Amino acid sequence: MQIIRTAAELESLVGREKNNGHSIGFVPTMGALHDGHLSLVEKAVADNDVSIVSIFVNPTQFNNPTDLATYPRDEQADFKLLASTGLTAVFAPTVEEIYPGGTEGRRRHEFDLGQVATVMEGKYRPGHFQGVAEVVARLFELVRPTRAYFGEKDFQQIAVIRNMIESEGIDVEIIPCPIKRNADGLALSSRNALLTSDQRRVAPGIHRVLEESLEYAKSHSVRATHDLVVEEIEGIPFMRVEYFEIVDDRTLLPVEEWEEAGGIVGCITVYCGDVRLIDNIRYK
Ligand code: PAF
Repeated sequence: MQIIRTAAELESLVGREKNNGHSIGFVPTMGALHDGHLSLVEKAVADNDVSIVSIFVNPTQFNNPTDLATYPRDEQADFKLLASTGLTAVFAPTVEEIYPGGTEGRRRHEFDLGQVATVMEGKYRPGHFQGVAEVVARLFELVRPTRAYFGEKDFQQIAVIRNMIESEGIDVEIIPCPIKRNADGLALSSRNALLTSDQRRVAPGIHRVLEESLEYAKSHSVRATHDLVVEEIEGIPFMRVEYFEIVDDRTLLPVEEWEEAGGIVGCITVYCGDVRLIDNIRYK
């Protein structure tokens, strides 16, 4: 596994592989890797001739400076985990390599991300998805992937990235991958490392309540299901629900009736102490 630090080195690897007609599988990450990331890497390695992972904590997608400062980082541990995956290369650049013009001041480009970027995370984290689009577009420009792999824990992010590639005319296949969970149900997340042991003990309650709501939803309205989930989760120590929205899986707009859409997903963001956790569940 090659470790690449500069855009120039990466472009030269990608150029060579593309000239040989090789497919490139790409997994963008912010590091602090866990089994969820590794499941994406495994797929990228299996599906493609060449596979590349990026590790880059992207400053432009953090709307909260403390969140950026405390985001877990352990590059050496990440490299160690990746070394046994069969990966071709890991790209771990500096901020300057990704943003040669700097990250301050006016954004280089305002992305057309559509209405899916304005709800939920878009509402609570202003500018977040423009930052995600900016870094993913830049990484796609360098890696020129055939396929890119994203975890469904960030359900909304996948919809936003699909819109970004469409509006920017980027030719890449987006592969959504199922959420990986701990044995106790907690969705794997780099942020789990920030939980205290007491918070970690109760954190699986988020998934437990969501799972229980599947049965409840069969005989209750969308509104009643929504209220039950919020009430139950807020009854768990340390937990505060930022939002829980039961949405059409294509438009990401809230539904009022179960019959209103072909696919319906419940998306939740919960503060467990100061740690912001997200999860989701499919109702249909
Ligand atoms: O999902 C993430 O880890 C990040 O948002 C991504 C896609 C790597 C962009 O920084």
